[in-house]
Amino acid sequence: MVHLGPKRPQHRKGTFTDVPEQWMEQLHEIENLLTVSAETLRTITTHFVSELEKGLSKAGGNIPMIPAWVMDTPTGKETGDYLAIDLGGTNLRVVLVRLAGDCTFDTTQSKFALPESFRTGSADQLFDFIADSLAKFVEEQYPEGCSEPLPLGFTFSYPCSQSKINSGILQRWTKGFDIDNVEGHDVVPMLQASIKKVGVPIDVVALINDTTGTLVASMYTDPEAKMGLIFGTGCNGAYYDVVGDIPKLEGKFPSDIPATSLMAINCEYGAFDNEHAVLPRTKYDVQIDAESPRPGQQSFEKMISGYYLGEVLRLVLLDLAEEKGLFFKGQDLSKLHKPFIMDTSFPAHIEDDPFENLSDVQELFDTVLGIQVTLPERKVIRRLAELIGERSARLSVCGIAAICKKRNYKKAHCAADGSVYNKYPQFKERAAKALRDIFEWTEDEDPVVIIPAEDGSGVGAAVIAALTEKRLANGLSVGLE
Ligand code: GLC
Repeated sequence: MVHLGPKRPQHRKGTFTDVPEQWMEQLHEIENLLTVSAETLRTITTHFVSELEKGLSKAGGNIPMIPAWVMDTPTGKETGDYLAIDLGGTNLRVVLVRLAGDCTFDTTQSKFALPESFRTGSADQLFDFIADSLAKFVEEQYPEGCSEPLPLGFTFSYPCSQSKINSGILQRWTKGFDIDNVEGHDVVPMLQASIKKVGVPIDVVALINDTTGTLVASMYTDPEAKMGLIFGTGCNGAYYDVVGDIPKLEGKFPSDIPATSLMAINCEYGAFDNEHAVLPRTKYDVQIDAESPRPGQQSFEKMISGYYLGEVLRLVLLDLAEEKGLFFKGQDLSKLHKPFIMDTSFPAHIEDDPFENLSDVQELFDTVLGIQVTLPERKVIRRLAELIGERSARLSVCGIAAICKKRNYKKAHCAADGSVYNKYPQFKERAAKALRDIFEWTEDEDPVVIIPAEDGSGVGAAVIAALTEKRLANGLSVGLE
């Protein structure tokens, strides 16, 4: 099931012959820092399982384990037109989903670029931008206007406490967002107020995390799907747990929700190991955390997700150039000093360079950083990119393994989406290998496979909106009383 990309040539013996001895020593040191053994993966997974449990307990823990109030699983028979929006890191996506009722669907969508400054701007600016984009889209799709309010599934991929499906109090921004006066507030009325200003008849039926959307969208077409995962700008997972196994909501459930029913849980496991008990953090990870808008938060995510991979590489390079005095002698490093100048596509391109002399690496460094790189430097840089990508993939699957152990899944389709999963070279192969390392399977076993997800933030949001409308029509609860 794992989709293999084109195989890159492995490093041949002698690849590093022109790399000075002193550099090789440094490289070995960094290899030791960034390599995660099978044994370490197993230790992390064991701790991960107990942290998932703790997040569901009355006392709570680092991992929020947010009940998402999605209590039905899709049958594929859901029908109707639904709007869905997804506020990602760089774009707002607006989708019209037509659920056909036979496990198929049709989507029409538009993308609106989110101006970079809006990530740290004001709440009104953000929600007005979303409402304006929605209005443009609806005008195009319904030139004659619409008779009934359009139901909308709002995919908002940040940790929100939910006491019901159509509300969500932002716990904290993640992935570099930092907008005042949103944390601690319900984002649904904020969006609804901005929608009112543009005068479009839209009803926000459900607030959805991207992982929950991914899970539900994939179940709409694949009954074996057991979890929804995002390996992208951030990282997170969702799965269904049994209501009776959520001690923190014991005694609070409305009477029409029996202890045996299922509830989707948005784990928010990017926050795994915020207490730094098991993750093999390096000085680079410590620095990224310290300089982030929310130090001490999202420890796991900061080591593995797309928002940070380029930044890890930048810090390693600065270390080699300035601390160790080995790299980029006599060059202007002012651009390399700029935090986040290298996004994830940077290490991804380095790994993808098909040329023996790594000429793409040279071009990339010249264009983005104004640095000329010698061939030995390029070779070390390529190895660094591999190490960072491999560490990300290996650590990433600990969340999958932990959910499998918690729910005792011996077999599972794990539906994954996100830029790192979809675009980062070798991620899929490395992740599959790491799962084998954790469970000690041989290569042809793979009972737990990561598969490409259906479009969670579009189709998933639509299906969840449909399931919610059905519950409401049947007089069933969609949240705490
Ligand atoms: C961050 C967000 C989480 C989201 C994930 C993937 O971890 O906190 O809500 O699911 O990124 O986008």
